[in-house]
Amino acid sequence: MVDIDDAGKAEVARPSESRRDPEWLRDRLSEWIKHHEGEDAAVTEVTIPESNGMSSETILAKARWGGVERDIVVRVAPQADSDPVFPSYNLDGQFRLIEYVRANCDIPLPTLWWSEPSDAALGAPFFVMDRVNGEVPPDVMPYNFGSWVSEATPEQRNQMMRDSVRVLAQIHAAPAPADLVSHPEPGETALAAHLRRLREFYDWAAEGRAGSPLIERAFAWAEENLPATEDAVLTWGDARIGNIMYRDFTPVAVLDWEMATVGPRELDIAWMIFLHRFFQDLAAMAGMDGLPDFLRRDDVATEYLQQTGYRPTDLDFYTTYAALIHAVIMFRIQCRAIHFGQAQEPADPDEMILHRPTLEAMLNGTYWGQVK
Ligand SMILES: Nc1ncnc2c1ncn2[C@@H]1O[C@H](COP(=O)(O)OP(=O)(O)O)[C@@H](O)[C@H]1O
Ligand SMILES: [Mg+2]
Repeated sequence: MVDIDDAGKAEVARPSESRRDPEWLRDRLSEWIKHHEGEDAAVTEVTIPESNGMSSETILAKARWGGVERDIVVRVAPQADSDPVFPSYNLDGQFRLIEYVRANCDIPLPTLWWSEPSDAALGAPFFVMDRVNGEVPPDVMPYNFGSWVSEATPEQRNQMMRDSVRVLAQIHAAPAPADLVSHPEPGETALAAHLRRLREFYDWAAEGRAGSPLIERAFAWAEENLPATEDAVLTWGDARIGNIMYRDFTPVAVLDWEMATVGPRELDIAWMIFLHRFFQDLAAMAGMDGLPDFLRRDDVATEYLQQTGYRPTDLDFYTTYAALIHAVIMFRIQCRAIHFGQAQEPADPDEMILHRPTLEAMLNGTYWGQVK
């Protein structure tokens, strides 16, 4: 990829491997910040966190501008040669959506500084925000296998549950943005549009390879059982505790807005419930109890009702739909791992879905009866 920068000289944007090089990043970011904030601005240190998400990249840095030293986070879009999880990324759109959410609802968000939509500086668009102090429930190893969450008291976890549900309630109470997120086509409900886009994403991921019969079955089930609701509130999308930073068990930053859209509020409520069940089922496979009393389906639904007066409905549908969404993402992530030689192509494509038994039991209607 070749970009011509402001000075007119050809700049070869390095492939994603060099983006893992902190010194290269520090120099490029430093040049960029000087251009924006003047000669005495600088990026002095860059660290790349070990456990990085698989979609966009998150870079931690120390910077100085306006005579103030700051800890910042730079979120960078993945480069095409890294075979990204999603077909397209709109970092500038995420930046503007977070600004919109800040202006329209009372949830904690990191202070945003700049969005750079061009590839010139880092080879991909990025945005810059303040670094928040707090703790995130870990995915690897999962928080319910042993972490600050499992070491907390039941009361502290209960507070986490209530305050996390409050985050959802507040997002859902915001006016839905007219742009910034995808909207349904004329005559289509927001939920039907959500399912259609998931299908399009799966078709893209499965192109030219053996698809998953289980995913096909779940799509057919979702189409048949789709609630007729016209609800179209702002939804966060990746609404799980693993995308919240907490301090003293209360949210201090709500992160990761790339799956935000409009739709029924149950999309978020069920995603929060399902992701905990996903980790609980992993714990059971490992012969552990995990956290069976945390984020229980009825507790989350009752809490949402108490806070908002709205009773979540059709949770059997929405939790199964959450399991389907997760299956599609997992299928895509496994395809990517196979592409990079990090995983073997299984003879049965359904094996690519880690929570296969969960999704099967949900489709058969036997899942919730066996959850204590
Ligand atoms: N503003 C921030 N302040 C502090 N840490 C952050 C911030 N943004 C992201 N992080 C850290 O980076 C991790 C990944 O960020 P996230 O937005 O969830 O992206 P993804 O999951 O797509 O990689 C978070 O779990 C958190 O540890
Ligand atoms: Mg995340």
